[in-house]
Amino acid sequence: MKEDTILLEFEKYLIDNLPEAKSFHPYFDKALTEMLKAGGKRFRPYLLLSVVDSYEPLLLKNAFAPAAAIEYIHTYSLIHDDLPIFDDADLRRGHPTLHVTYDEVTAVLVGDALNTHAFYLIASAPLSSDIKVELAKELSLNAGLNGMVLGQAIDCYFENQKLDFEKLKFLHIHKTAKLIAASLKMGAIISNTSKDIQNLLYDIGLDLGLLFQIEDDLIDATKDSAEIGKPTNNDTQKNSFVNLFTIEGAKEKKREMIEIIEDKLSDLKPSLRNRLQDIVNKYFK
Ligand code: IPE
Ligand code: IPE
Ligand code: MG
Ligand code: MG
Ligand code: MG
Repeated sequence: MKEDTILLEFEKYLIDNLPEAKSFHPYFDKALTEMLKAGGKRFRPYLLLSVVDSYEPLLLKNAFAPAAAIEYIHTYSLIHDDLPIFDDADLRRGHPTLHVTYDEVTAVLVGDALNTHAFYLIASAPLSSDIKVELAKELSLNAGLNGMVLGQAIDCYFENQKLDFEKLKFLHIHKTAKLIAASLKMGAIISNTSKDIQNLLYDIGLDLGLLFQIEDDLIDATKDSAEIGKPTNNDTQKNSFVNLFTIEGAKEKKREMIEIIEDKLSDLKPSLRNRLQDIVNKYFK
C-alpha cells in the first residue's frame, strides 16, 4: 500500500475509535481527545505499519490498534512534556496546550489516561494473545521506567548542566529513540518475523530515533514556531545536540547518522529497505 493510503486509513481508524470518558465532568472528555485530533506526523505508527505492510500486508488493519497505542503513548508524552514543570510550552500541533486551554490537573490526567488506554488497545487488538503479550512488553519496556520516562527524567534534571556526549546519547536514546525503535520492532513482532529481523529493526530504530532528535533540536534552533506548530527557541537550557555541537556540528552529526542508517538498511529486504529509505529522504534530507 502507498504511504498516503496507509496514513489516511490509519487516521480514519484513529478518529473513528477515539477514547471516551462520559461523565458529568464539564470538559474532561473533550480534553481527552483534543491532542490526538490535533494531528502530528504519525511518524511512529507509520513505522510500525510500514514493517507490517512489507512482511504481512494482510495483517495491516489488525495492526492499527497497536499503531494507535504507540501514538497514544507518544501523545501523552507530549502533553506532559509541555507542562510548566517540564518544558513549559503553550502550543502543540498548532493548538494551545491542554494546561493552557483547561488546567494542569486535566493535562496530567489526560496524559495518564492515554498512557493506560494504550495497553487496553493492545489487549483488545485482533491479534493472537501471544503476540499481544509481546507487544505490551515491548511498548512498556521502551516507554516506561527504562525508556522514555527515564529519558525525560534525565532531560529535566540536567537542564543547565552540560552532559558529555556519552550521557547526551543515553538521554536521547531513552527520551526519543527507544519508542521509535519499539515502533519498528512491534511491526516485526506482529508480522511474526525471526528474532534476528526484530533485533535488526530495533537497532536501526535506535539510530533513526537519534537522527529524529537531532532534527528536532535543529528545528528548535532554526525554525519558526508558526510553521512548526510548537514553540521554538525553547531548548536554550537543554542538553540538545545543537547546544553541545552548534548548529553546524548538529548538521554534521545528522549526516553521519544518515550514513550509518543507510548502511544498515541494506541488510533488509528491498520493499522495506525502500520504504525506510523514503522516510529518511522525506524527513531528514
Ligand atoms: C516530537 O515528536 C517530540 C520528540 C520526540 C522529538 P514529533 O515530532 O513526532 O511530534 P508530532 O507527533 O509530529 O506532533
Ligand atoms: C520530548 O522532546 C520528547 C518526549 C519524550 C516527549 P522535546 O521536548 O525536544 O520535544 P518537543 O520539541 O517539545 O516536541
Ligand atoms: Mg522536552
Ligand atoms: Mg519539549
Ligand atoms: Mg524538541
